[in-house]
Amino acid sequence: MSQHFSHDILVIGSGAAGLSLALRLDPAIRVAVIAKSSLSEGSTRYAQGGISAVLDPGDSVESHIIDTLDAGAGLCKPEVVRFTTEHGADQIHWLQSLGMQFTVREGHDDECHLTREGGHSHRRVAHATDATGRALEDTLIRAVRQRPNIEVFENHIAVDLITAAKLGQRPQRALGAYVLDRDSDRVQAFHARNVVLATGGASKVYLYTSNPDVSTGDGIAMAWRAGCRTANMEFIQFHPTCLYHPQAKSFLISEALRGEGAKLLLPDGSRFMDRFDRRGELAPRDIVARAIDHEMKRLGADCLYLDISFKPADFVRERFPNIYRRCLDFGFDMTREPLPIVPAAHYTCGGVMTDLHGRTDLAGLYAIGETACTGLHGANRLASNSLLECLVFGEAAAADINRHWREQAIPERLPAWDESRVSDSDEQIVVAHNWDELRRFMWDYVGIVRTGKRLQRAQRRIDLLTLEIEEYYSNFSITNDLIELRNLVQAAELIVRSALQRTESRGLHYTLDFPHTDDTRPPQDTILTPTNYSPRPKAGKRLMQP
Ligand code: FAD
Ligand code: SIN
Repeated sequence: MSQHFSHDILVIGSGAAGLSLALRLDPAIRVAVIAKSSLSEGSTRYAQGGISAVLDPGDSVESHIIDTLDAGAGLCKPEVVRFTTEHGADQIHWLQSLGMQFTVREGHDDECHLTREGGHSHRRVAHATDATGRALEDTLIRAVRQRPNIEVFENHIAVDLITAAKLGQRPQRALGAYVLDRDSDRVQAFHARNVVLATGGASKVYLYTSNPDVSTGDGIAMAWRAGCRTANMEFIQFHPTCLYHPQAKSFLISEALRGEGAKLLLPDGSRFMDRFDRRGELAPRDIVARAIDHEMKRLGADCLYLDISFKPADFVRERFPNIYRRCLDFGFDMTREPLPIVPAAHYTCGGVMTDLHGRTDLAGLYAIGETACTGLHGANRLASNSLLECLVFGEAAAADINRHWREQAIPERLPAWDESRVSDSDEQIVVAHNWDELRRFMWDYVGIVRTGKRLQRAQRRIDLLTLEIEEYYSNFSITNDLIELRNLVQAAELIVRSALQRTESRGLHYTLDFPHTDDTRPPQDTILTPTNYSPRPKAGKRLMQP
């Protein structure tokens, strides 16, 4: 028997974006926060470097703006960059008011220690040693647990949005979502006046990624299916330095190491970054990742190296306690030897198009955090600007909801999810195989260096996979893996289509066919509109196919 849940606001996602928004909603608002795994699981928890904010008197918002625009290679929206950077310091103070412990300057208990990362011309990254995300997520969860108006649903994965148009109603708006309770295997309808997508990025579309398993682009795919535009999906950020070890699952070695002086080395121990950029190891990530990729291919090397062993061992252990311990688990002592590193997919710069309030194209639907494309990052995100964006837009969207939530009635009873005609699949191997295939060809054909031919090849495979997955989705009971695969292949399609449209190299999109930036015309966003793509065939047994 399917159940119906009714709240004022449905927040899908419990990372920095979703939880900070929930906490900033008026306490009179009844909020549901759903997370497809545990509340704490998401990219936020794994953030290492920190949160960028102008806190040092010698720094300025103008300087943060210039660095962000410079990294974004002509595609940042200046008004969004100003809005975000101007609100940076407030976010840190708000987190401190919730009890978050930042690392402080020696002898100054009330001043955050600030670190430096690539592309920043000042020390401006506030951090909690090298586990900022854990401290942040723990702080937000503690605060959420104390708020009686926020109801939490863990192990609940949103399948799709419910919209008025899908039910044949007018005017078009978001009414809620169908959600699979992974414990009971039941799909339930969640009704709400407003829905917030805070589902993180899509980096799991690549074989090698720094991201946790939940980063499967669900919000981007759901918004797209509900008619929202996406922007700049070709700009996938590859983090230059993940630990190279078969069991390490691309464990991140924070850019803050380079901020504290770590050097990138070739297998023969020589430095190379100065040949690629005058900023050396502290050039923006697109440049560093491409340089590493170039040198690995040139030398046929499996990995390159990152060395901080020349610094005092006590300093390294104290400044990077978690990275130090984790590397030691894998047999590397970073106080004594260089670490083997490779780049891995790290961040989705594009996403669901939103305005300064986090509003999407669909009335009643907001998107915040890595799921959204606000215009802050342009063609390449500046390090530690993501958590900042999550917090600033969490606050902005909450303020907008606080102003307008009463204007919309809670939708009436929505049709129940119908599984009466579908059956359980006895071929789960198909789903597992398609997952692997997708992630491998995305890595091989749509990686750091691209060509039109490789992108076309990826597109043909995506078309085939899409047909197969839609057929599967229409005829068999849904599972977590199937929902994620359906979203991943959708995200992959958006990445490839966007990449094919960009006939130049810019920021994170580098193609051998057009190796230069096109300076003959103003920089353009790559905006995709769902109505320009023919709907997928929906011949299946499932009656309710939102
Ligand atoms: P996430 O934190 O990824 O949370 C996503 C949430 O959505 C999860 O709760 C998940 O369960 C839920 N979800 C997803 N799909 C569904 C669905 N279908 N149904 C229900 N729930 C769903 N950025 C910085 O600024 N500074 C850093 O130092 C930094 N370090 C990083 C280190 C690592 C290893 C990684 C991976 C990223 C790092 N980033 C950093 C990037 C930053 O952490 C992320 O961009 C940011 O945390 C994203 O937050 P979010 O709230 O948008 O999503
Ligand atoms: C890192 O610590 O290197 C990650 C920072 C980021 O992704 O912003």
